[in-house]
Amino acid sequence: MNSEVLFQPFDHPKLQLKNRIVMAPMTRQFSPDGVPGQNVKEYYQRRAEGGVGLIITEGVTVPHKAASAAKAIPCISGDAQAGWKEVVAAVHAAGGKIAPQLWHMGSMRKPGVGPHPDYPTATPSGLLYPGKKVMEPISVEEIHAIVKAFTEAAVSAVELGFDAIELHGAHGYLIDNFFWEGTNQRSDEFGGSLEKRTRFAVEIVKSIRAEIGDDFPIILRFSQWKQQDFESKLAQSQDELERFLRPLSDAGVDIFHCSTRRFWEAEFADSNLNLAGWVKQITGKPTISVGSVSLTEEFIATYQDGSAEVADINELIERMEANEFDLIAVGRALIANPDWPEKIRAGDMASLKTYSKELLTELV
Ligand SMILES: Cc1cc2nc3c(=O)[nH]c(=O)nc-3n(C[C@H](O)[C@H](O)[C@H](O)COP(=O)(O)O)c2cc1C
Repeated sequence: MNSEVLFQPFDHPKLQLKNRIVMAPMTRQFSPDGVPGQNVKEYYQRRAEGGVGLIITEGVTVPHKAASAAKAIPCISGDAQAGWKEVVAAVHAAGGKIAPQLWHMGSMRKPGVGPHPDYPTATPSGLLYPGKKVMEPISVEEIHAIVKAFTEAAVSAVELGFDAIELHGAHGYLIDNFFWEGTNQRSDEFGGSLEKRTRFAVEIVKSIRAEIGDDFPIILRFSQWKQQDFESKLAQSQDELERFLRPLSDAGVDIFHCSTRRFWEAEFADSNLNLAGWVKQITGKPTISVGSVSLTEEFIATYQDGSAEVADINELIERMEANEFDLIAVGRALIANPDWPEKIRAGDMASLKTYSKELLTELV
């Protein structure tokens, strides 16, 4: 196995990384009252010391009352800022870079939970699942308030010394609730056609750009699948994917993080390209791929059934050598092995540890 391709520098005008390895965002809920402490700092520091080029943090909630479903999910305002400053300093001292994943949970936050339990859940159409109305849709006024919350969060990220931001537009949370027809049946300017369903995210990106300028990298994570429906697709074809991506790319997204559960799966018939491969081809922008790197089972199955064995990364290397995508995000394998990059570089697959969901009960 020659893994050299993973250790080529990534040289983007706005973001320079020492290698192609990204830590995938993973919610851990170890930040009491939203404040990351020493244990969170050391957790990310270990991954930076282990050789990760770019850490994307767990979802960090934006300053809006309906954003978070649990008090131990970190936020980016108030007392949390001192904690994040320490995290950023520790990662930088270890030679890594770091971006917070900015998050609003949308319809995935059930009413009555989180730091503001009495505040109603925010969803575009009041739909949790397609056809299942559970609450009132948010007003245009509230949409603008949430755009502002994302913008404030991005400004904080810049001030705190982060190297980029990632917007969480995947997996059935708020931004994705707008993208997906199943949860967005608005008839105003934020709903309707595929293009109109991107408008909420486009406004967030434009508003952030207006505040932080052109030089700071904005990553957008999106997925075809939703936690409400793993088989759903925002874009059924290459043409639809292009229609979906164009407004987002034009608005100022620099890097697309294409969330799939298995990186080797072809996105559309008649081509072997995965989602990140298609997005790179369509937009001409760099992409991050993800999904079951060096593991035998995809992540949702391991929430339920527990564990995944170590798998080889030969196909990952082949796809990266073919320049199908630019960066690869690694999730659970980095929970089990904080020094995953170093072990891969040394060709030491034999000492990689398997992943088990028990590892989530502690922050190691
Ligand atoms: C414990 C856990 C928490 C996760 N939390 C998030 C999250 O906050 N934001 C997100 O976009 N994805 C989240 N994911 C998905 C991961 O980012 C990643 O896409 C997924 O685990 C697949 O990568 P892997 O197979 O290498 O683990 C989470 C996954 C796990 C296992």
